[in-house]
Amino acid sequence: PAPGWTSEADVLVVGSGIAGLTCALRLREQVDRVLLVTKTRLSEGSTAWAQGGIAAALAPEDSPAEHLDDTLVAGVGLCDADAVEVLVTEGPARVHELIGLGAQFDRDASGKITLTREGGHHRDRIAHAGGDATGAEISRALIAQLEAVRADPGIEVIEHALVVDLLTSADGSVCGATVHVIGEGEIDGVGAARARAVVLATGGLGQIYSATTNPSVATGDGMAAALRAGAALADLEFVQFHPTVMHLGEGATGQQPLVSEAVRGEGARLVDAAGEAFMAGLHPMADLAPRDVVARAILERMEATGTDHVFLDARHLGGDFLEQRFPTIVARCRELGIDPATEPIPVAPAQHYASGGVRTDLRGRTNLPGLYACGETSCTGVHGANRLASNSLLEGLVFAHRIAEDLTARLAAGELPLQEPTTEGGAALLDAAHRREVQQVMTRGVGPLRSADSTAGALAELAELAARPATEAEPGPQTWETTNLLHLGQALATAAHLREETRGGHVRRDHPHHDDQTWAAHLLHVRDPGDG
Ligand code: SIN
Repeated sequence: PAPGWTSEADVLVVGSGIAGLTCALRLREQVDRVLLVTKTRLSEGSTAWAQGGIAAALAPEDSPAEHLDDTLVAGVGLCDADAVEVLVTEGPARVHELIGLGAQFDRDASGKITLTREGGHHRDRIAHAGGDATGAEISRALIAQLEAVRADPGIEVIEHALVVDLLTSADGSVCGATVHVIGEGEIDGVGAARARAVVLATGGLGQIYSATTNPSVATGDGMAAALRAGAALADLEFVQFHPTVMHLGEGATGQQPLVSEAVRGEGARLVDAAGEAFMAGLHPMADLAPRDVVARAILERMEATGTDHVFLDARHLGGDFLEQRFPTIVARCRELGIDPATEPIPVAPAQHYASGGVRTDLRGRTNLPGLYACGETSCTGVHGANRLASNSLLEGLVFAHRIAEDLTARLAAGELPLQEPTTEGGAALLDAAHRREVQQVMTRGVGPLRSADSTAGALAELAELAARPATEAEPGPQTWETTNLLHLGQALATAAHLREETRGGHVRRDHPHHDDQTWAAHLLHVRDPGDG
């Protein structure tokens, strides 16, 4: 689309979760003009939905080395150890800075931060807020910081702004983005936000599946724009399916209510329809095994018992404790007619997190000059084949700081000059009417249990959808989002088809074991930017 307006900044930050907000705030400490755009409102997005907490070695008996070990084990041999080292060693200081910015974590009577445990952790190291509303508190604190600097002309915020495509210059550098703003006045419709560098922090791609814990805005916009511009995406096949998502009955679609792992961290147990606890014999950590292990065990139990869900039994924790420790979850359960104090909660795995994303180095740089990626949008290498619980908020926080530092130094040194865009995307679009089909194809073919046949089937169906011409004269956000889901679906299904082993979040029924000889490697996906 031809831009109707132009805006200019030193750095364009896309997205307003923990990664985007932290990055924008840190950048503005030294950089003259920061532009933050976000698809709906600042507070929308996955960060605000995070329940369990943020992992960091904060307890005196814990250490970054132990956090590193747990992260590497959960990632099943595919983590980048240097990236994990950065995450766990810089994490505690970043969490303390977040507290300094006003985030209020839960504390005991003596004022010490209370830490809990989640799947895959051998220590209590998950800090939480409002019981089970950690992300909402972090989001509140960061937005309050941003509001405090609203009068500062050096930081501009545009809400209701969907990034459509990246702008690139003749030498292949990223020099801004086309943005569709639903606003009033000058900044309205499609425009060009030009910048010396772009940071993509648009979160994940959960809406590629029929059922996910992600909010409706999680349509992979940043990942898809990066893919179309020629950025390398990695580890896309490692989609994390959270083991305990409330089961709302067959055919429930869209965002589903999460029941945090922290509920198991406090002692709840998974049981099948007959009331039998089934994790104890399966893994030394039982109900607190890494997330992929628990999700797979649930799927196997469901198959063995011919049911579409199991139960999370928290009754023995008592009504008072549950209400005080997990107010969000208890309220949601009650809205849906379940009292977790007196009955087990029906749960089943559902899409939760993209462990892969836009490949970056330890400074958040991608393979495209001027393009950075942060948070769930990125693949820094910390998650490998399966993210350790509560490492996601931490990753966004730690790497946002690193990106801000790197960019501040580079801009001060005169690197990354503002360039003229010579390309502005323009991929063939898929009508918004096909969104459900994309989701159904991905759920059937590239869901929690996969095979060569299922992934090949998905690829064929997606190719058929891609061949349908868009009929809308004036594309809008829904069309761009649906096109993003299609493009990422094709990349994800390709990776899931090629990786012929079972590892972490990628379960291949036809290859039930993991194979270090052949597969201790990453799949990179790079699309020719000229490929419409
Ligand atoms: C949860 O609270 O179980 C989710 C935490 C996470 O995704 O890391």
